[in-house]
Amino acid sequence: MKKATATDGVPSESGKNNLMEKIISLCKRRGFVFPGSEIYGGITGMWDFGPAGVLLRKNLKDLWWKDLVQMRDDMVAVDAAIIMNPKAWEASGHTASFSDPLVECKICHLRFRHDKAEEISAHEKTHKGKKVEWTEPQQFNLLVKTYLGIIEGKQQEVFLRGEITNGVQVNFKNVMDSTRVKIPFGIAQIGKAFRNEITPGGFIFRDREFEQMETQFFIKPDKQEGEKWFEYWKQNRMDFVVSLGMRKEKLRFKDHEKLAHYAKAATDIEYEFPWGFDEIMGIHNRADWDLSRHQEYSGKKMGVLDSETNEIFIPWDIETSAGVDRQMLALLLDAYREEGERIWLSLSPKLAPYKVAVFPLLGNKPELIDKAKAIYNDLKQDYMVAWDDRGNIGKRYAAQDEIGTPFCITVDFETLEKDDSVTVRDRDSMKQERVKVSKLKEYIKERLQ
Ligand code: GAP
Repeated sequence: MKKATATDGVPSESGKNNLMEKIISLCKRRGFVFPGSEIYGGITGMWDFGPAGVLLRKNLKDLWWKDLVQMRDDMVAVDAAIIMNPKAWEASGHTASFSDPLVECKICHLRFRHDKAEEISAHEKTHKGKKVEWTEPQQFNLLVKTYLGIIEGKQQEVFLRGEITNGVQVNFKNVMDSTRVKIPFGIAQIGKAFRNEITPGGFIFRDREFEQMETQFFIKPDKQEGEKWFEYWKQNRMDFVVSLGMRKEKLRFKDHEKLAHYAKAATDIEYEFPWGFDEIMGIHNRADWDLSRHQEYSGKKMGVLDSETNEIFIPWDIETSAGVDRQMLALLLDAYREEGERIWLSLSPKLAPYKVAVFPLLGNKPELIDKAKAIYNDLKQDYMVAWDDRGNIGKRYAAQDEIGTPFCITVDFETLEKDDSVTVRDRDSMKQERVKVSKLKEYIKERLQ
């Protein structure tokens, strides 16, 4: 049998155009992503994650966490509240400057981002030859407002956080005072953010509710130091994305020409989506923007004592900010394979929702079911394991292939009557091997590295 390679089944150029539709359909069919509150017709920019999606996201976040928090001596973590004192958003500049330029089509009154030329031109084409006029661009603030309090009319207007960063910045002193960290060190956080995006779209690419994984790395305030750590984090994050099994040729760095209000320098890591290269992660030199502003607005000192010079300084912050949803979409697109009728996700085993599936050959033979259940229960101690005893084996393989399960184990009559071995089938090569039940754990462990 031919050995499986990383590019087997990668959709051809002609198949790429509808790759997004294929992914959206697979995500629904196999329980990765559902439209938010679908039974009520959905709600724009919101998505719900199903059983397979939750596991993929958890694995992604766990890998990120292990890499950046567990394995590093210079990183700690926080989990700050989503709703903050509104003054924090004034200080961070979000109430004044967290905006995108909005234009409205004068024919149909749909609104778009003025800086997204492809989306503007795609919309103009929908008016089939008519000259489309647009309103002048107006800055539209992306912060999502909500209200707290129990007395109608006296409720406090607050914001759902537009980025998770601010919860780290306001806790900078708390972290320094409660741990033994010393500059340079970082604070990591994973959590939901909300933006009133003008044009949510691209499936889970641009949502109104999404999840971010961020690190804020605090360093001495110095231009050279800033450049050094900026370059370090760029490469560190690219290496991480590559370690997730993504194809290197589909990834690149892209420097920002227009900088966000808080940034001194910014680079994106981009993935080649079906519509072209687009951002999955940002690396920003925020310098002392956040801490200085919080010092100014809160009146609380944010400075750190330099033990060498005895001077107080406000640290600079080099940020890495990745979107769980965008990374998930890029992973799914990158892993999608098809050959004839067969579809599979060639996800890295580290990310695969289930590492193994266990099947009794027939779903109506108690002796096969009992043996398979014993293997299933044993493997479950170490991994997420799927169980399937419905339909024929071909259909069960197809279902596991589509969620990217690397190994399927079948218990058959040979297992019971001959040598206590099972069939293990590899997702990518479809190669099948007989493996003794006593050696199964070792076999799987070796191949899940
Ligand atoms: N704290 C910096 C920050 O939030 P950003 O470039 O606005 O920077 C960082 O966002 C990452 O968050 C992006 O690279 C993307 O992965 C994700 N992200 C931003 N807006 C998003 C949206 N509307 N939907 C999904 N993900 C989004």
